[in-house]
Amino acid sequence: MRVCMVVVVLLWISGLAWGLPANGENRGQVSILKLPPDPISFQPGSGSELASRYCLMCHSAEYVYMQPPHPREDWMEIVNKMKTSFGCPISNEDMAPLVDYLVTQNSLQPFPTAPPVQRDDQKDTPDQSSIQSGDSQKGKSLYERHCVTCHGPGGKGDGPIGPVLVPPAANLTLLGKQSDKTILDTLRKGRPGTAMPAWEHDLNPQELNHLLSFLRTLTP
Ligand code: HEC
Ligand code: HEC
Repeated sequence: MRVCMVVVVLLWISGLAWGLPANGENRGQVSILKLPPDPISFQPGSGSELASRYCLMCHSAEYVYMQPPHPREDWMEIVNKMKTSFGCPISNEDMAPLVDYLVTQNSLQPFPTAPPVQRDDQKDTPDQSSIQSGDSQKGKSLYERHCVTCHGPGGKGDGPIGPVLVPPAANLTLLGKQSDKTILDTLRKGRPGTAMPAWEHDLNPQELNHLLSFLRTLTP
């Protein structure tokens, strides 16, 4: 269940980055991160059982519904990536019907109707504040929200999906020798070609500093 929540939060936040509901109502309010109700599952339709079987293993159906509209060949590529990079055990014969289904679902896009999320850390984004300003406690909760699924609670790369990734999620207790800048660059840009996402769109520089401070506490 925790995996689900972490992924949902990830999705939720990337949803924001895509400029989903940004009405002014919430400005200036003290806020909390509101979790959406249970992750939506796939809507009925030909192929939905394939999607439920193969895609809900690792993440919620929102991964599909929140995608901007993609042509069929892009979905083929995404599903291929799930298979070859992340180990989704889908058989070749199931590929085409599954992709057909995903294309139909992709155009439904129910996600933007979800209530807007309020995040206090987006209220005033200080300039590229210095790394020393990172707060490891805040970093810890960001870490628990965004990183545990892969890197595990203690950072050893042993989160629920960490070890099945190719390459596996890194052991973050071994970051000792890396400079602050190197680590921040990794957080900002991710590692193309691996499951390590780029965070610069979802987390502001201050939050990345909090994370860095927390990561420093993991090194023995
Ligand atoms: C074995 C685990 C696993 C399975 C099974 C899986 N995925 Fe993924 N998926 C991932 C990971 C890991 C990422 C990339 C990390 C992230 O963005 O959180 C990802 C990312 C995505 C993305 C975001 C775009 C992208 O290319 O990164 C989409 C869309 C997606 N998956 C769709 C699917 C669909 C559709 C299925 C079912 C065919 C599926 N996934 C099955 C692990 C999986
Ligand atoms: C979907 C899985 C996934 C998520 C979520 C994820 N990572 Fe990663 N991360 C990886 C993988 C896989 C690697 C290893 C890439 C490689 O081998 O080059 C990695 C590498 C890293 C590295 C570089 C480690 C090194 O040894 O150079 C850092 C730092 C890192 N992640 C921090 C984070 C933080 C902080 C978060 C949360 C904000 C996070 N990651 C979220 C999968 C993930």
